[in-house]
Amino acid sequence: MTGLATRAAAGVAGWGSALPTQVVTNADLQRRLDTDDDWITTRTGIKERRIAVDGETTGPLAVRAARDALHAAGLEATDIDLVVVATCTAEVPMPSTAALVAAELGTTAGGFDLDAACAGFGYALATTASLLSTGIARRALLIGADTMSRVVDPDDRATAVLFGDGAAALVLTDPSIVNLPSAQVGERGDRSVGGRSGAATPLPGLISADLVIDGAGVDLLRIPAGGSRLPTSAATLAAGGQFIQMEGRELFRRAVREVVDSVERTLGRAGVSAADVSWFAPHQANARIVDAVVARTGIAADRTLGNGDRYGNTSAASIPLALAEAAAAGRLHDGDLILVSGFGAGLSVGTVLWRWGRS
Ligand code: ACO
Repeated sequence: MTGLATRAAAGVAGWGSALPTQVVTNADLQRRLDTDDDWITTRTGIKERRIAVDGETTGPLAVRAARDALHAAGLEATDIDLVVVATCTAEVPMPSTAALVAAELGTTAGGFDLDAACAGFGYALATTASLLSTGIARRALLIGADTMSRVVDPDDRATAVLFGDGAAALVLTDPSIVNLPSAQVGERGDRSVGGRSGAATPLPGLISADLVIDGAGVDLLRIPAGGSRLPTSAATLAAGGQFIQMEGRELFRRAVREVVDSVERTLGRAGVSAADVSWFAPHQANARIVDAVVARTGIAADRTLGNGDRYGNTSAASIPLALAEAAAAGRLHDGDLILVSGFGAGLSVGTVLWRWGRS
């Protein structure tokens, strides 16, 4: 697969993750909801999830994951010039979680939040790689972080069992620069630093992507209140408008179809087949959705990364958590073709084919 063109070059300098310490098992939920381990396991594959206590919400989790990733990269926060946080559960409505993270880390890097719900990581990966490949940024912190427990009705068994909290981060860098503190790096090079240029060693980064919204599914997953249409009030709180409302069965059906189509378009644009995928990191909403996508696309089940059994649906964090765990375990190698695909409210779907490579 060395002949594939890299459309947006970006190397991975480091990765990190952060999870709340509190583990909530299916048995724990069974004690307070009309549910049981068998139902949850059979329908979703989830055995336990992490639920944030105060001080472990989206912002602090994102900061912890970012510090972990910077440490792994051997970089300081001041070496970073872009912070992107994929989230649909921002720490506060304003300022952005990215701004809070940058302030806490002590960097003047630019930054913004990107909300594509559970599909957020794929969108943010494509966006960050594009900003790096155009030279607008040179070293970026890309974070997926969500605290879904704060937008789920704890008494609604249909949704409370599904979600968990967490964050993970990647440090992505323009591969044409050497991984040195910014003061020691000159102007952008000719993309040949480190011997990565030329046909022999393809650049790491984005090969192809597919970003779509199935608008027919726009009402299948929503939080009706708390925005400009219906600001939070005593009435919206009394009606539970601050919580997720979900039509699970229809969402399931559409998610399988949309993700399969998106994966096929992404692989088709790159001219590769499912057999060429080194690792598949699908969003972890439900093990049965993942199984159906794997079966229909022909991607090898033993090349599929997952964590839903341990963390539940962590929204924009689920894919980077899987990548960070696989990288930490030494399972990802330079040149590997990584396929990530997320879906969520919208119905938003974001799929990226990525050539993994350290920078
Ligand atoms: N425990 C026990 N019974 C339950 C529970 C529970 N936790 N939740 C629902 N049930 C019951 C229902 O009340 C229903 O009972 P009934 O037949 O007496 O009416 C029965 O189980 C079947 O309910 P369904 O909703 O039809 O169950 P289904 O097989 O569809 O599974 C599930 C539900 C797991 C939610 C599935 O539809 C699903 O995973 N859908 C996709 C959800 C998803 O991906 N959401 C996240 C998107 S990502 C984002 O953007 C946040």
